[in-house]
Amino acid sequence: MLNDLQKILVSQEQLQRRVAELGREITAAFQGTDEITAIAIINGAIVFAADLIRHIQLPVRLDCMRVSSYRNGRRPSSPEIIDKVLLDLKDRHILLIDDILDTGHTSQQVVRILRRMGPASVRVCVLLEKKGRREVAGTPDFVGFQIPDEFVVGYGLDFAERYRNLPCIGVLRPEMQNPPEWR
Ligand code: IMP
Ligand code: MG
Repeated sequence: MLNDLQKILVSQEQLQRRVAELGREITAAFQGTDEITAIAIINGAIVFAADLIRHIQLPVRLDCMRVSSYRNGRRPSSPEIIDKVLLDLKDRHILLIDDILDTGHTSQQVVRILRRMGPASVRVCVLLEKKGRREVAGTPDFVGFQIPDEFVVGYGLDFAERYRNLPCIGVLRPEMQNPPEWR
């Protein structure tokens, strides 16, 4: 799998170090709240969320939300909620965990939906933020790494549902981006 990468953008060691640091930042920011409700956007945030919550030194409730933002592989249209949150969010402190902030439409839409459920607060943590791609206002509360505008895979991020299990984050070689045998 590593051979399919053109280059590595974030190594396994860098990920481990930064995720632990993010856990400390989040723990500090939520001091005084008795419990965090973490909502991970699946599938992309699964690996990141699994590591991140183990670095949060406060009680955490975890739920997941499934969102689709790429319809038919075309330009992202409005994200569609496929599996909704089952936990009651009323008066709770929410930490939304996502893999990557690209245009920002997914996160904006999800935050809007979560706010309708009456939480006490909603904060957003993204592992990656693509520079210069944002189409909506607002900044995430916690960001792991800023990356250039390239299509990346690994550590939860996929191309056609592959490469999520890569331990690092990298850019796919162009010839790997459309193998005819993949469905
Ligand atoms: P946004 O709505 O444009 O911010 O898109 C965010 C979603 O698009 C992420 O949650 C990812 O699922 C997907 N995405 C955006 N850029 C990449 C990438 O470089 N690699 C893999 N998935 C990406
Ligand atoms: Mg994806």
